[in-house]
Amino acid sequence: MRTEQNINELEALKQKEIMERLKVRIAKKTEELGRPLTYCSVCFGCQMNAKDSEKLEGILETIGYVRSESEDADFLIMNTCTVRENANLRVYGRLGQLKKYKKKNPNMLIALCGCMMQESLVVEKIKQSYRHVDIIFGTHNVFKLAELIENKLNSKGMVIDIWEGTTEIVEDLPSDRKYDFKCGVNIMFGCNNFCSYCIVPYVRGRERSRKPEDIIAEIKNLVADGVVEVMLLGQNVNSYGKNLENPLSFAQLLEQIEEIEGLKRIRFMTSHPKDLSDELIAVMAKSKKICKHLHLPMQSGSTKVLADMNRRYTKEDYLALVEKIKTAIPDISLTTDIIVGFPTETEADIEETLDVVRKVRFDSAFTFIYSKRTGTPAATMEFAATEEEIKERFDRLLKEVQDIAKETCSKDQGKIMEVLVEGLDEQDDSLLTGRLSNNILVHFPGDASLIGTFQNVKLIKSKGFYYIGERV
Ligand code: SAH
Ligand code: SF4
Ligand code: F3S
Repeated sequence: MRTEQNINELEALKQKEIMERLKVRIAKKTEELGRPLTYCSVCFGCQMNAKDSEKLEGILETIGYVRSESEDADFLIMNTCTVRENANLRVYGRLGQLKKYKKKNPNMLIALCGCMMQESLVVEKIKQSYRHVDIIFGTHNVFKLAELIENKLNSKGMVIDIWEGTTEIVEDLPSDRKYDFKCGVNIMFGCNNFCSYCIVPYVRGRERSRKPEDIIAEIKNLVADGVVEVMLLGQNVNSYGKNLENPLSFAQLLEQIEEIEGLKRIRFMTSHPKDLSDELIAVMAKSKKICKHLHLPMQSGSTKVLADMNRRYTKEDYLALVEKIKTAIPDISLTTDIIVGFPTETEADIEETLDVVRKVRFDSAFTFIYSKRTGTPAATMEFAATEEEIKERFDRLLKEVQDIAKETCSKDQGKIMEVLVEGLDEQDDSLLTGRLSNNILVHFPGDASLIGTFQNVKLIKSKGFYYIGERV
């Protein structure tokens, strides 16, 4: 019997065979040219996309391409995001510039994938106006990159392969990790929430959870390979496991992951407030490994706007949840996402948002101006405010958020805390950058040999969103 499991295993085998064939072809080309073939990988959007890009890069490295940071490469892959309009505009801008590279190097291949490609209007536009693109695929078939490259090499036209949705989760293909010591791990794909402004459910499909045993096996392999911190990824991790054959809650999954020897830190994102359970709070409170950080997008502080957004919680629910979390885990750092200028938002509504911001005192908040996404329910709603009013609200909110964050983030000044060293400071390479459990960065003197290790650091001076520290 062909079960879903063995169909996926067969698919992985097939892709690996194609990679073997491509390896030979690319080696031959490398010899002909007398130089390695290069690839450049560009990624927009969220951590889910970043993870997909690691998979794409793993496939490209396996077949023999060598990484290059320059877009002037033999293979350019752009993983796109469409959550807000400006994400799309950036892609079109970059595509225009790529034309000149392709003129210089006619063998260059340009591939586009990711969320934007799941929109048929986008693909139409590219087919018409950006004919120098070679391969287009979407979010559901990232694992097929090798096959699509082979198809392209065997044909003349543009190769387009977009799936409307999928039940497939193809495991066990290569992945090129960005860091040796930390790694993102998908625990679920897609989203069923349909917040009225959001395009993600349309481009990422319905919610699918990976089996716990596959997740645990992947993390164990990562740990054996030197990883000490994992970031569990999903659009709504709190509803993990509901559609599994043997349902398991996110909190139960965390308890299993906690048992993995050698793993030191566990992070996750994103949590939807409506699904955050008491069980999860209890597991976080007693865990030795789950980081003291929760990203809990509120979107708006107005119960009316939240209802229009289809978020399914009220201002009071959100505040009560925060209270519960802070009581159970006093040293937790809370961060959030807020949208300003949702169509039905009025001056009274933004005051409600500011009220929640002042009450919760977030460590940081990502603030976005609402962007209309065609096809979502909010796209047909009338605006209650003008663009200028929305801009003014955005500035007002941003100032409040930043003033509060500066105070909240400096609360540990003077303490000695553990950081995981992530790399050299980008501005000053006599300094290292490390991350506290609560996700705040610390810059302190040290050398590259400490990257990937845990160090105790005295937090000497808060600089608002980060600390200057000293190793003790
Ligand atoms: N699944 C996550 C969010 C994914 S998108 C969650 O529910 O929290 C990341 C953030 O982008 C969202 O939290 C929201 O604040 C913002 N966002 C999504 N759609 C948007 C839109 N149409 N306009 C502006 N911001 C948007
Ligand atoms: Fe978008 Fe809402 Fe799903 Fe987050 S939970 S991805 S905001 S629909
Ligand atoms: Fe963007 Fe897709 Fe993530 S739309 S935010 S890359 S899920």
